[in-house]
Amino acid sequence: MQHRRLGRLGLTVPAIGFGCASLSSAYGPSVDDESVAVIHHAIDIGVNLLDTSDAYGNGHNETLVGRAIEGRRHEVILCSKFGNKRGTDGARLGADGRPEHVIASCDASLRRLGVDVIDLYYQHRVDPTVPIEDTFGAVKRLIEAGKVRFAGMCEAGAQTIRRAHAVQPITALESEYSLWTRDMETEILPTCRELGIGFVAYSPLGRGFLAATIRSPEDLHPGERRHEHPRFFPENIARNVGLLNVLEAVAGEVEATPAQVALAWLLSRGDDVVPIPATRRASRVDENARAADVSLSAEQCARLEAVFRPGVTAGTRYPEKQLGNMGL
Ligand SMILES: NC(=O)c1ccc[n+]([C@@H]2O[C@H](COP(=O)([O-])OP(=O)(O)OC[C@H]3O[C@@H](n4cnc5c(N)ncnc54)[C@H](OP(=O)(O)O)[C@@H]3O)[C@@H](O)[C@H]2O)c1
Repeated sequence: MQHRRLGRLGLTVPAIGFGCASLSSAYGPSVDDESVAVIHHAIDIGVNLLDTSDAYGNGHNETLVGRAIEGRRHEVILCSKFGNKRGTDGARLGADGRPEHVIASCDASLRRLGVDVIDLYYQHRVDPTVPIEDTFGAVKRLIEAGKVRFAGMCEAGAQTIRRAHAVQPITALESEYSLWTRDMETEILPTCRELGIGFVAYSPLGRGFLAATIRSPEDLHPGERRHEHPRFFPENIARNVGLLNVLEAVAGEVEATPAQVALAWLLSRGDDVVPIPATRRASRVDENARAADVSLSAEQCARLEAVFRPGVTAGTRYPEKQLGNMGL
């Protein structure tokens, strides 16, 4: 596995990481024993950048990751998040960036993960009611106390990133970025580059769509979360499927899968971009990791970008209500 540097403070990570959210049944059922085996396989092949959050499965995901890394803590780069509150029933309760919440959340995450330190600790969603300086003042104190090594943000706006970075240097921004979600290219990615902040691309496979295996809502599990995502609504998915032709054509040319081409395209954006695809299957961990060996020509990238131009995707990337706390 190739490696990349995130930020300017010395964090080195594999070029492709592993998103753990879907191991808490985000996109269809998952079984804990199988999930632990999948995480072990990811670590074994060097995909050892593990991404979790206290919000995923309302704590379940951190507990699961903790179980998987028991005895193997030294082999992983452990990332978690705070501030995207959930009720005990999983209800979304909004963002909480109060310093006391940051400190208490970190202690709770450390307990669930069964570790002394989190390598990269992200603010999951910006809380517009708390000055970002106060939130990242608390993160700075966690770093000074040795509970966190590096600071990160998710889905933050450019001015907020600048203000937080002035209080505590930010190592990575983790926001949605993929062929069908290119909003970050106009302002956010250039801001990260100016400040020396790495970019962790979440949902790099478009929540599975860019693997070209989902062609209608019937291909999703009944009752799972993607049914609420507008891009997977019947009328939108029917339009979006047309985008896959170019992806499949390029995949054929380079003898790779569409998922690998989608990840290789992200890697080609710059050596500061690190995708974190998620899967419940070990064979797909292998497939996704091998995307780091796929090289696309400038002409192939240009063809992909001409079809997947910003704004072309039918449907918003999240349900309207959830979009409200992004880009703040
Ligand atoms: N910071 C944030 O706010 C935020 C938000 C969302 C996500 N994330 C992070 O980003 C990670 C990844 O995002 P994501 O899970 O939303 O989307 P994703 O990685 O784009 O897609 C995951 C989906 O793709 C499928 N898949 C994976 N590899 C495949 C392959 N090679 N061929 C066919 N299908 C494949 C998986 O199905 P199977 O499981 O059936 O393989 C799963 O349903 C999450 O786990 C989480 O850690 C962060």
